[in-house]
Amino acid sequence: MTDTDQSVPGSASAKRASSSVAAEAKRRRTFAVISHPDAGKSTLTEALALHAQVIAEAGAVHGKSGRKSTVSDWMEMEKARGISVSSTALQFTYVLPDDDAECVINLVDTPGHADFSEDTYRVLTAVDCAVMLIDSAKGLEPQTLKLFQVCKHRGIPVITVMNKWDRPGRMVLELLDEVSERIGLLPTPLYLPVGIAGDFRGLLRRGKDGEPAEYIKFTRTAGGATIAPEEYLSAEAALSIEGDDWETAAEESELLSATGQDHNQETFLAGETSPVIFTSAMLNFGVRQLLQALVELAPPPHSRQSVEGEARDVTDPFSAVVFKVQAGMDSAHRDRIAFMRIVSGEFERGMVVTHAQTGRPFATKYAQTMFGRDRSTVDTAYPGDVVGLVNATALAPGHTLFNGPAVEYPPIPSFAPEHFAVLRATSASKYKQFRKAIEQLDSEGVVQVLRNDLRGDASPVLAAVGPMQFEVVTARMRTEFNVETQLDRLPYALARRTDAESATELGRQRGVEVFLRTDGVLLALVSDKWRLQFIQKEHPDLTLEPLVATA
Ligand code: G4P
Repeated sequence: MTDTDQSVPGSASAKRASSSVAAEAKRRRTFAVISHPDAGKSTLTEALALHAQVIAEAGAVHGKSGRKSTVSDWMEMEKARGISVSSTALQFTYVLPDDDAECVINLVDTPGHADFSEDTYRVLTAVDCAVMLIDSAKGLEPQTLKLFQVCKHRGIPVITVMNKWDRPGRMVLELLDEVSERIGLLPTPLYLPVGIAGDFRGLLRRGKDGEPAEYIKFTRTAGGATIAPEEYLSAEAALSIEGDDWETAAEESELLSATGQDHNQETFLAGETSPVIFTSAMLNFGVRQLLQALVELAPPPHSRQSVEGEARDVTDPFSAVVFKVQAGMDSAHRDRIAFMRIVSGEFERGMVVTHAQTGRPFATKYAQTMFGRDRSTVDTAYPGDVVGLVNATALAPGHTLFNGPAVEYPPIPSFAPEHFAVLRATSASKYKQFRKAIEQLDSEGVVQVLRNDLRGDASPVLAAVGPMQFEVVTARMRTEFNVETQLDRLPYALARRTDAESATELGRQRGVEVFLRTDGVLLALVSDKWRLQFIQKEHPDLTLEPLVATA
């Protein structure tokens, strides 16, 4: 299909195209896994890929020792710390066992470390559902809580996975209570584990009103390297094999029903309840059940509101949102990739679209689904898919691309930075490269860049949500731009939005400095909250507005 076809609304070809886009959108599920580091996100990603047919891999698989080595560890820093800094996507197809329909699943990777929560927030603008992965022995951990708040804020439905059930840990009901008490999300298990944590035998599938519908008995395979065989047994057979363990699970199911903890699709989509699955990602137990839940329950891509508040439907002409820009993924190429999530219409490589922020045409000749070291081009993509555009220098997170009627989606808000530092090139001869690098890292959203006349252009101030963002900057300065830098932390802890009228008076205050951020916002950096309270009391007329917090 070309855009000429689409531009004739009501024509036979436009109708055909729109119904095929509708069908493609309907079979797609785009989700992210949110978890605290070490809960098993990488292991789960690999297990999902094992169950499904991986069709494109965008650096999401982050293997640990003995497993397939990661393709996302493109940066030395990631390797050294064993964390994933980048956010990319993995696409696979999955066919439900009793169904012929093939589903296309897009798993968008999120960085695990709290310092990159701004990046995670951007990723969460690109998904329709989140899997909240919890280590059953540890329960809810700080980063999970933070990320859950982001999902709540964005109204993203959440499926909860209680992982590592093969290890000794907490009790089923205790874990579920923690979810409802601490985050106000009512857990509605789809399955309950048979056997206590540390003795994972199988899953009880909950039927209507919590009645045990079926027993799925697992068999371990060596090292969990292959799909664990499953046996499907009746409740009677389960009772005779598992005895007390089956009875306990059945009782728990009954208790949960009594408190209204049965799956309800409407409340799940409204973000009030969360289907729960117990798994051992390491042994591949419960992974198929998670895929099934994603296919059957997670919402397919849907319409998105534009800045003007108009909804663009998935079958409308092509539009997409850039949620991540990443450079240096391949040191041999030194390129810069903008990741977009398709919102509406069909994407065809080579189509010329419009960049909403500049109004300029944008050629999509170099579109890829596979990043990291191996790459492959993508020819067509549909709503929900993630496509990387190579050397897309004009694109930044939050930008819109479209075809046909103009559309612009709301920008992704910048988070309130809490860490500040001055950056300089150690050698004056490198100033040109330094400037270029700062400009690039700024537009990618790696850090926020602040300037004022007093400090000048040679030593901009970097503002970050987490200090590890600074390490990314200095590491990339060295490896990609060949510039050695010196970073000096500044004694500020807060940033507030201000305006030109307040700036002069604020500049006179002790412990305050005013800067212009690249997006044109005036920021007052303040040493601490007591100083801020003092200024607000002494000068109630000054503008000092809070910025979007990291939840
Ligand atoms: P992350 O991406 O969320 O940080 O977690 P990752 O998958 O790397 O898993 C963290 C550790 O937890 C790994 O152990 C991994 O093997 C283990 N793990 C993940 N899922 C399960 C599970 O279902 N059961 C059990 N028992 N362990 C699990 P490690 O010692 O750090 O690495 P490795 O030497 O085992 O590879």
